[in-house]
Amino acid sequence: MNHETRLHLAAHPFAYPLVRLLARLGPAVRVPGLGVVVNDAATARAVLTDARFRKDGPGSPGDLWTPVLGPSVLLNMEGPGHAALRRKLMPLFTPGYVSALVADVLREPLDDLSLRLGRGETVDLVDVMRTMAGAVICRTIGLGEVSAARARELFAEGERVVSMVSLRSRRLNERQVTVARGVLDRIGDIAQTAYEAGDESTVMGRMKSQGLSAAEARGAAGAFFLTGTETVATFVPRLVALLHDHGTKVDDLDRVIEEAMRVTTPTPVMLRSVGEPAHVGRLAVRPGDRVVIVTHNCARAYGPFDPSRRHPPELRRIWFGAGAHFCIGYPLALAEIRAVATVLLSHNVRVVRRRAARGVLIPTYEHLWITAA
Ligand code: HEM
Repeated sequence: MNHETRLHLAAHPFAYPLVRLLARLGPAVRVPGLGVVVNDAATARAVLTDARFRKDGPGSPGDLWTPVLGPSVLLNMEGPGHAALRRKLMPLFTPGYVSALVADVLREPLDDLSLRLGRGETVDLVDVMRTMAGAVICRTIGLGEVSAARARELFAEGERVVSMVSLRSRRLNERQVTVARGVLDRIGDIAQTAYEAGDESTVMGRMKSQGLSAAEARGAAGAFFLTGTETVATFVPRLVALLHDHGTKVDDLDRVIEEAMRVTTPTPVMLRSVGEPAHVGRLAVRPGDRVVIVTHNCARAYGPFDPSRRHPPELRRIWFGAGAHFCIGYPLALAEIRAVATVLLSHNVRVVRRRAARGVLIPTYEHLWITAA
């Protein structure tokens, strides 16, 4: 069994074998109690680019996050309101801006990582990535320079909220909503203070100058915090492990990253609620039906990790979504991943020990100890 499969089984010992079994039943299959499950990239893309499939109806991400974040936080919106908010947020994610932000926030942590590897230390890449992804999100939501301990603390708070969701969750219970609100309110307060200060060199200050209201800025900070921390932090150790396990020589870093994204699919499922009668593949669906796009099955159908593989059009970056909700943080995620991977590759790192994480939503390592080769 390869290490990636072990990660999935450690995270979802019962659900993962079932989810993989469903992949054999066709591009779209109705599963009582779960919804219409999509296992195929072309069918997934058709759903993601069709406005009849929504993120704000029954069984959608809105059901999970609206009680915590409020109704207007991009990932639970549709239509003109969603498009208008996205337009205001887009300038915050231009490749130039995010590269400069990442270079600034990660300069010291990356120098430190390079020094430790250069000295021959064994480093836990999971801990390093939690600190770095935590530091980037701290800066994004409006904290200035923060200590590694504060970055880790914030990361752990996000993890606590995300881990409330399982592959079967439809709603958070009252206690979970209270805990999640407590965390997200603290994030919102930090964001609002930075927003009110209005310093245009900060993301929150830029939101103000883009014409976002304080409530929109608070909501956006919460959405970034939930979606943009664990996804990046869990991916980098898996990327490094894949390179190690396959003895990959990296000529084209971006291509290797995309192929590792395909195999790992850090966001393993995407949910939609049917708003109007439609078809998913050959299945007729009705308003209120739930569609569960198993991105992992869609992507794994193309075989094992192979960086020389070309991704066909229907597959292209489906692990970041498609259509109106395509990941707005994609440039930021890529800038972070590239920055860390470049340092790791310059030290030609190898994996010395690892442990899979249990009870997590996104399969990953609990520890991945690496050292310079
Ligand atoms: C490896 C890293 C990441 C992956 C794999 C990823 C994946 C995704 C996917 C699949 C979606 C679409 C979900 C759907 O259609 O249901 C999405 C949306 C989103 N992502 Fe990411 N993401 C990553 C990093 C980030 C980062 C760093 C941020 C920002 C700080 C971010 C912010 C968002 C937001 C706000 C949305 C909602 C967009 C909308 O609904 O219009 N993501 N992401």
